[in-house]
Amino acid sequence: MDKYSGKLAVLCQSLSDKERSQELADRLFVPLYDSVDKSAPESFFLSWRDGCLKLLDKELLKKGGLAVDIEPRNGEQRSWPAPKQDALSQALGRKTKTVIDATTGWGQDSLHIFRMGYELQCIERSPIMSELLRDGFRRLAEQDWMQRLNLESPPLLSGNAIELLNTLESPPDCIYLDPMFPPKRKKSALAKKSMMVLRELLGDDEDKEWLFEAALSATAKRVVVKSPDYAEPLGGKPSESYQGKLLRYDVYLKN
Ligand SMILES: C[S@@+](CC[C@H](N)C(=O)[O-])C[C@H]1O[C@@H](n2cnc3c(N)ncnc32)[C@H](O)[C@@H]1O
Repeated sequence: MDKYSGKLAVLCQSLSDKERSQELADRLFVPLYDSVDKSAPESFFLSWRDGCLKLLDKELLKKGGLAVDIEPRNGEQRSWPAPKQDALSQALGRKTKTVIDATTGWGQDSLHIFRMGYELQCIERSPIMSELLRDGFRRLAEQDWMQRLNLESPPLLSGNAIELLNTLESPPDCIYLDPMFPPKRKKSALAKKSMMVLRELLGDDEDKEWLFEAALSATAKRVVVKSPDYAEPLGGKPSESYQGKLLRYDVYLKN
């Protein structure tokens, strides 16, 4: 039985999306529906809406759904490269040029790193998130400012970073990790819907210690781990730590 069997389906409500919906369903080995009622066994659906690939749960079916958001975050300057002035850029390091985000997820940290002008490569192991990211990066490449500046979206490798980091041709200056940590309380009122859906869909990343070890041996200079402020540091005592809002960036320098 495939891992998404009974959990995910592709939903196609427009004839013009039929072909790409069928291809998506075939790639993920899940059924294709043209409508969904309450009796459907699946809890999650992928569907093209408003020109974006969106992830929906039953609650989001009418409301719209979640896509990779390619717009700058609140407070982020709309210039390229955006100034490197926050806790994340301090953690990435002043001399860092090349970064691998080994846990790309919804791509929000990746896109922030990309907009600050780092040379970025992305890795994501969930085939569903990879599909959503590919669609987001396609939309990014079509933005006026990207075309004006002759920029390409960051490359995305789909697969387990624990294995892929072993096969790099040249080590990056920094490997960035943001694995899923168990929540402090059962249902955090502060968790964003996109992260709640990700947790429900994929669960916690129970092999994050292995990922940390793989990152430390594959990086040229440093590993940065984003953690909730209540979590123990993933790799033991960090070399440096930078405080964000309800989170920390722990930095491990390679000697
Ligand atoms: C908490 S989310 C990351 C959120 C992301 N930083 C953002 O800004 O949207 C963790 C993501 O890392 C991915 N992931 C965890 N371990 C991984 C591994 N070993 N290889 C590749 N991806 C991994 C999960 O599939 C999940 O999508």
